[in-house]
Amino acid sequence: MHEHIDLPALPRYTGAPEAFDASGTDPYDLDPDLHPDQRWSTWSSVEKGMRGPEPRPGWVVTADAAIDTDLGVLKTGKEADVFLLERAVPDDPGQFSLLAAKRYRSSEHRAFHRDSAYVEGRQVRRSRDRRAIERKSSYGREAAAAQWANAEFAALTMLWSAGAPVPYPVQIDGTEILMEFVGEHASSGEIDGSPASRVAAPRLARVRPDGGTVEAYWDQLRHAMGVLAAHGYAHGDLSPYNVLAQGERIVIIDLPQVLDLVANPHGTDLLMRDCRTMCAWFRSRGLDVDEGELFAELIAQAW
Ligand SMILES: Nc1ncnc2c1ncn2[C@@H]1O[C@H](COP(=O)(O)OP(=O)(O)O)[C@@H](O)[C@H]1O
Ligand SMILES: [Mg+2]
Repeated sequence: MHEHIDLPALPRYTGAPEAFDASGTDPYDLDPDLHPDQRWSTWSSVEKGMRGPEPRPGWVVTADAAIDTDLGVLKTGKEADVFLLERAVPDDPGQFSLLAAKRYRSSEHRAFHRDSAYVEGRQVRRSRDRRAIERKSSYGREAAAAQWANAEFAALTMLWSAGAPVPYPVQIDGTEILMEFVGEHASSGEIDGSPASRVAAPRLARVRPDGGTVEAYWDQLRHAMGVLAAHGYAHGDLSPYNVLAQGERIVIIDLPQVLDLVANPHGTDLLMRDCRTMCAWFRSRGLDVDEGELFAELIAQAW
């Protein structure tokens, strides 16, 4: 995936989790190579167009000396697995970031629940890819996984640029998206040398915030859905499982199926479903909200 011909000597790595030192010796004193859970940062090998939007947040690590370390699985899913990844320059606390690496699956075991209703009105530009996807060849499966990754990266880029609460998309490399890790507390952007939380923010489904916070979340949700609608889009799979609760704010994730409200014949139905699902959660947390009103408000912003 990532080719390096001449590996520079690896600086002593101090940020590795304890597990790496299980042998009691520093593996890097014995072997200048990378640990199996590490790679050189892929930042410089991805094309410019495959990187996140400007202005790039200050915490994004772009140094060639940076190392990507897989810190473990956040969640495995039917279509993609999400890993916690550290991208950092060893011995330089100023160049440290935690990322969520979402890796789309291209294997036969992958079962997309995102069915054709989502992709109607979407175009696969390269006809070779389209035919391969239809044939379901292994090239086609890889291409399909990359299409979903591309769609999610494009949606994150558009929404982040429009000021919606989504993780900052750092880069896309084939079927892998690297994005801002949404931790329990501060976002990566607020790290200032202090160790960031490596615990992911809980999904909305799991939290029971106080009344004031529920209201604040509702305002944020309406605003986020409004940004999407104003650009002619709906999330398409919005639920309390695809919204993270990070303290006082919510962050919307899981956007590969974002749909075009005009081009997609099911667009308004799917928008209505998003409204219904989210309003049910807010009602279960004591807020008197109405999906019909939310839907009407969003449609008014779309046209
Ligand atoms: N940027 C992120 N920061 C923190 N956790 C994340 C992030 N993206 C995904 N996750 C975690 O991974 C889970 C699955 O991600 P999601 O994008 O919803 O994929 P899917 O539902 O298709 O498997 C999320 O519910 C969340 O717990
Ligand atoms: Mg999800």
